[in-house]
Amino acid sequence: MRIKINESQELFDQAAAKVIADCIRKKPAATIGLATGHTPKGMYEALVQLYQDNQVDFSMVKVLNLDEYLGVDLNNPGTCMSYLTERFYKHVNLSKSNIHFFNSEADDYEEECRRYDRHIEMVGGIDLLILGIGYNGHLGFNEPGTKFDTTVHVEKLTDITRTANTWSFGEKDKVPTHGITLGMKNIMHAGKLMLMVNGKKKAGILHEAIYGEVTEALPASVVQLHNDLVLVVDADAAAEIDNIGK
Ligand code: PGA
Repeated sequence: MRIKINESQELFDQAAAKVIADCIRKKPAATIGLATGHTPKGMYEALVQLYQDNQVDFSMVKVLNLDEYLGVDLNNPGTCMSYLTERFYKHVNLSKSNIHFFNSEADDYEEECRRYDRHIEMVGGIDLLILGIGYNGHLGFNEPGTKFDTTVHVEKLTDITRTANTWSFGEKDKVPTHGITLGMKNIMHAGKLMLMVNGKKKAGILHEAIYGEVTEALPASVVQLHNDLVLVVDADAAAEIDNIGK
């Protein structure tokens, strides 16, 4: 595990954007899985800036969304697809055909899950997967208790997750009850993981995830078993972790 601790929000955003840009420089046709949420907002801004400064070229890059809400129109501003389109996709030279996303209103969700799994296989796997951590230790929409051998699947969202994501839909009652997500196995099969964590409120769960028992009760603890993990944190989130690799 490599840990990059950043003293300011700006440095945090830039450090995370650099991990993505470095991956693309090494492999211009890389497949990158993308998270949403409060945590990576500034990282996407930094990435768009790198693109505008001609520091990174997305023309051959393939992206796929980590998760999505179910039963809501993809154009709803609260969806993960809207978030990524508004903050990232529409500002860079990604080819439309290289953006893979969930059908949030599929007739058959089981088939939608298998379609997504097949796509990951077809592109030769995920080279770099960006992740945040939930207050309950979830990864993507893999809520506590999710089996480590799951592939893409539908999850019932916990109350903690729906409350934390109220900002996306304006009111908690409007946050969908279910999500579709890469599974724990898909996550662990990615070539490289970047876990981004910021803020004091995440310091405890982060500490538990990286130093505690590896358990399905705390999905993020699985990252301890990945052999290429880069942890990008700010000083607040890092309050309880050792200064290794600072
Ligand atoms: P957040 O979400 O960045 O909005 O805290 C992270 C997550 O739920 O994975």
